[in-house]
Amino acid sequence: MNDQSNKPSNLNIKRFESLSSTNEHAKQCLENDEPCPFWIVSDEQTGGRGRQGRDWVSIKGNLYASSAQIINANGSKLGGLSLVTALAVYDAIQKNSQTPLDLMLKWPNDILINGAKLGGILIENVSNPDAEFSHVVIGVGINIQSSPVVEGRDTTCLANYDYFISRDDLLLVLIETLNHWIKRWDNGNNFAEIRQAWCEKAAPIGAPLSVRIGHERIEGKFAGLDEKGALKLELEDNSIKLITGGELL
Ligand code: BTN
Repeated sequence: MNDQSNKPSNLNIKRFESLSSTNEHAKQCLENDEPCPFWIVSDEQTGGRGRQGRDWVSIKGNLYASSAQIINANGSKLGGLSLVTALAVYDAIQKNSQTPLDLMLKWPNDILINGAKLGGILIENVSNPDAEFSHVVIGVGINIQSSPVVEGRDTTCLANYDYFISRDDLLLVLIETLNHWIKRWDNGNNFAEIRQAWCEKAAPIGAPLSVRIGHERIEGKFAGLDEKGALKLELEDNSIKLITGGELL
């Protein structure tokens, strides 16, 4: 472990040269009663994890970080955290950008530039679903220097846009923007504002969407998000299908 000085010192960031997964390490720390909030960041991950059981290729040069937080909410209210974190990543990138970037959020929590994936978010709730307070791990991966080749997906990195920032500088801004959006979310009590802010940064209403759920592929048009953050897909017969899992293609 390379637990160097953190600046500012009260952020409780633990830096590592190599970990299997920052999310896994954060969960271990929670099991060992490490006080929240804290951040785990690693130069590389040897077993980085993505959504839906996928791997997250994690070579040196990109950001791999996880934050452990206690949230005064449980159950479906926590679903909003994906959108909250996506907004925080969006703002963190935008804040340091020298030139305008065509950034876009893709449901539930991808960050795209010109349609190619720049980063992803993996949120894990480690508490009993009925507990009043939830311990959550918010994992964020942002491609700074390189983008992994992912079958069937376009990927990109900030360096492709002559956007150069150190991993630690990006992390510090992300901590700030995540704290900001978590406060605005107010433990899920202010989800309406989050939904509106997220929709302003996503594809416009009516944009064609293709969703894969298991082996099924459904085509439709984006019709916004419902009050819990599920994606509303307008089908050909004008009915609305609520999407709570699966993958947008
Ligand atoms: C996705 O889009 O599939 C989510 C990717 C999340 C990757 C980050 S990198 C830091 C944290 N640790 C992990 O093992 N995964 C998340």
